[in-house]
Amino acid sequence: MKRYVYGTPIETGAVVCKPETTSGNPEDLSMSVATKEDNWTLSLPLEEGDIVYGLGETVRGINKRGWKYISWSTDEFDHSEGKNSLYGAHNFLIIAPKPGSDRKPVGLFIDQPGKVTYDIGYQKQDEMTITCDSNLELYVIEGSTAYDIAKKFRSIIGKPYLAPRFGFGYGQSRWGYKTKEDFYKIADKFNELNMPVDMIYMDIDYMQDFEDFTLNEKEFADDFPGFVQKMKDKGIRLIPIIDAGIKMLEGYGIYEEGEAKNYFCKLEDHKTDFTGAVWPGYAAFPDFLNPEARNWFGMKYKILTDAGIEGFWNDMNEPALFYSAQGMQELKEYLTQFANDPAKPVNCYDVFDLNDHVGGIKNSMKDYERFYHNMDGQWIRHDKVHNLYGSLMTKAATDAFKKLRPEQRTLMFSRASTIGGHRDGGIWTGDNVSWWSHLGLLVHQLPAINMSGFLYTGADLGGFGQNTTRDLVLRFMQIGMFTPLMRNHAALGTREQEPYQFEHPEDFTFLIEQRYRLIPYLYSEYLKAIKTDDMMFRPLAFDFPEDPIAREVEDQLLFGHELVIAPVLEQNKTGRMVYLPESMMEVRFAKDQPIQTQPREAGWHYICYPLNELVFFVRNNKAIPVAEHSARRVDEINDQDLTLIGYPEARYVMVADDGISLDPAKAGYHETVLTNV
Ligand code: GLC
Repeated sequence: MKRYVYGTPIETGAVVCKPETTSGNPEDLSMSVATKEDNWTLSLPLEEGDIVYGLGETVRGINKRGWKYISWSTDEFDHSEGKNSLYGAHNFLIIAPKPGSDRKPVGLFIDQPGKVTYDIGYQKQDEMTITCDSNLELYVIEGSTAYDIAKKFRSIIGKPYLAPRFGFGYGQSRWGYKTKEDFYKIADKFNELNMPVDMIYMDIDYMQDFEDFTLNEKEFADDFPGFVQKMKDKGIRLIPIIDAGIKMLEGYGIYEEGEAKNYFCKLEDHKTDFTGAVWPGYAAFPDFLNPEARNWFGMKYKILTDAGIEGFWNDMNEPALFYSAQGMQELKEYLTQFANDPAKPVNCYDVFDLNDHVGGIKNSMKDYERFYHNMDGQWIRHDKVHNLYGSLMTKAATDAFKKLRPEQRTLMFSRASTIGGHRDGGIWTGDNVSWWSHLGLLVHQLPAINMSGFLYTGADLGGFGQNTTRDLVLRFMQIGMFTPLMRNHAALGTREQEPYQFEHPEDFTFLIEQRYRLIPYLYSEYLKAIKTDDMMFRPLAFDFPEDPIAREVEDQLLFGHELVIAPVLEQNKTGRMVYLPESMMEVRFAKDQPIQTQPREAGWHYICYPLNELVFFVRNNKAIPVAEHSARRVDEINDQDLTLIGYPEARYVMVADDGISLDPAKAGYHETVLTNV
């Protein structure tokens, strides 16, 4: 592994174990590096059959060739394939030449907190060009396979965040739950239907006027700890949201304190707070790059942890900006000119221009260039460090949890992220849409997200934006079955998508029950992946790099060391073709039937996969533990009551701990060899 330093890079904290600096430029795969004024470019030819893996949570396929990606944390609710950026900014990729090539695979990590552009065969089909500001650290990682390189990379960025085991339970969420009664009703409905569930999420309406660390006066302010306890009595942990922006309002304590202590991001004068609009209206943005401000913000979670809250989701931390005070002023001036010009609109171009001005006010680059961070006394313009913001908000929380809840793990996941942030929390994949194409997107994102260090992850099951359908929710759940975070979440105003809103809720109950039966295995693979710098989800070609078909499969994944999952991704399909790179055991969970297994030879198979079953493949000579009986809560799972499913002779090394202690010594990490005999 080699590390090259260009200019004077900002320390991002992404790499915890840095190799010595190498002088000169990398020569691997005929790379060439050029620095021109403040622009740095790395180019390399791509050969026929090279696959480019990585870039974490972004658009398009597992193989990133053929598009331009921009590493820039973006509040992007429309993840259509024409986009270039999503919420994650994950600058790690691997170029894997085809089998038989005399070129070796290479991994690249661009350690740069600002915008990084990856043209991967977009301008020229056979060329990759990476461009960014000229201050960066470049890591070039060699290895025998893409998989080997991914593990080497993971070994230098530190261990991923360790979630509590209850975080593997099913979570129900929706933007729009407003009253205590709403929460009671949901819990009661799950309990009545005997549907397993561990968490219900609280979206922004639990706050007073969307002010962080406050409680809605009418609904929750009165005896919040009592309410949290009452939900616990129903077997539910409440998981509230925290947003990045702090409402600018005289009399709101958090705002006044942050303002007095100079903890908010400033305009160019380094004195006036930058004003951006988010859910509460005009808001100030905590300067998470300032360790004092971070500590201050983190300790505010206390009001909720003191009330018995054990987990949070951090949102709007790209930071999302609906507009800024200055941007709005400029728009008004433009609109006034437009309105006062009797000749306007002259033609369609005037209307396009009008649209661009109005639409462009959101998350505008101009705004990201207007504000500054105080990094150890040095003022840095936001756009230079943009991608760090979300991860440092997560760090603020997690550092504080170590003080506020020193004994126990706290559930934490974030929307925006960059590599390094994986040590402090998980991520969810943001505002996806109830589209079938977004099932496929999730399959593409999962391995790349794992490569970037994030293991605790998942998508809004059912889709967040727009109206979902029953079949889409079930298909989402068949993938979500394997993601550590299994949460159904939907946007305000969309069709209600809690499992019991649809016909035959027993089909949903059945799938969630199977998830709970798999949790001992899923959690074991999670602990192993943390310990051994491994990925939980991998493209087939990571384990079968010589197999030309496996190299092209983009709709199946390896899970852990035992499984291949092949979800159905299209509407009205009752099955699909599945490619098995080696002989495997098909495993089928169907209602009112014992688990069925059927050996399958290597090659292509048409596999029936109804909406209300769970199907996966156990790899040759392997087996996985499955709990005999489904529990209704993670804490009720009986780890002694496991059966091995797969090849009868195989054994499985099961890893477990108490699932809650923060201190690894107290958690009691241990391995048990399971066999069927
Ligand atoms: C953002 C989040 C979404 C949340 C909404 C309201 O869009 O991504 O999950 O429901 O804000 O808080």
